[in-house]
Amino acid sequence: MNKDTLKREINDRVRLIDQALDNYLSNSAMPETLHQAMRYSVFAGGKRLRPVLLLASAEAVGGNADLLLPAAAAFEMVHTYSLIHDDLPAMDNDDFRRGQPTNHKVFGEAMAILAGDGLLTEAFGLITECCVSESIAPGTVVTVIKELSLAAGPFGMIGGQAADISSENQSIDKEVLDYIHSHKTGALFKACVRAGAIMGGGSAEQLAALTRYAENLGLAFQITDDVLDVEGDSRKLGKTVGSDERLKKATYPSLYGLEVSKKLAADAVDRTLRALDMFGREADLLRYIAGYLLERDN
Ligand code: IPE
Ligand code: IPE
Ligand code: MG
Ligand code: MG
Ligand code: MG
Repeated sequence: MNKDTLKREINDRVRLIDQALDNYLSNSAMPETLHQAMRYSVFAGGKRLRPVLLLASAEAVGGNADLLLPAAAAFEMVHTYSLIHDDLPAMDNDDFRRGQPTNHKVFGEAMAILAGDGLLTEAFGLITECCVSESIAPGTVVTVIKELSLAAGPFGMIGGQAADISSENQSIDKEVLDYIHSHKTGALFKACVRAGAIMGGGSAEQLAALTRYAENLGLAFQITDDVLDVEGDSRKLGKTVGSDERLKKATYPSLYGLEVSKKLAADAVDRTLRALDMFGREADLLRYIAGYLLERDN
């Protein structure tokens, strides 16, 4: 498949994910402001990388991605919650996200915290929809719920966010930086890819290869996020640049400089491609996503 076709294939999946999110977040049996705040950030315009990865990874092992939309939407809800909380004044104190004012700027801090809580909690219930019509075995769905809870909680993303906050204004070493990146960002990427492979019926060998792919993808992704915070265009990114410098965050550019950081991101992308060696064309979407990370400007 050429690049244009792959791009179209990704866009098709983004549309399906958006429809699923719209459907799952349509129940308005909750206070109206909370409903608006939850929908506001979800539909502010994210790239949907994590749910696309989940679907693409299921397809790489021969699974039926259509059955996994509840899980894909759930992972995007957890990611969106993490962004709402990451932007709060007590955290990174950012005013723009996904090209719009941040959630707390529009709805206030208390409602932004609650909108995040709502998305996180609802996501776990949503994943169970994957086994409602017995499309995916309940035991498999339980395994995926465990993957998500480990990836999003204190042993994963929350651990990474805590280390990120504690490392502000500190001189940190490579080990701490690697912990921050692999946990605050890498863990959720890895869980998305593994969830797709597990529910798609992948073998242990395929799961191990896709896990290596995802670990390197998460690293490349966060290095480029750090680089874009230094030299990106805030209009294209949809978020404020320069936040990391303002808060003296532990980042790849601060530890290694920009040029070495870009080289380390490219090396990580090389490793993602090597991890996919055992796959044929069925993993082309995963390869395309890895390549896109080095070119991305948003
Ligand atoms: C931003 O993630 C947060 C990080 C983990 C660096 P994305 O760049 O994937 O954000 P959206 O979903 O497209 O807004
Ligand atoms: C955020 O990392 C990671 C999570 C939200 C879990 P950053 O703080 O670098 O993300 P941006 O740059 O604000 O998107
Ligand atoms: Mg942050
Ligand atoms: Mg931030
Ligand atoms: Mg950042």
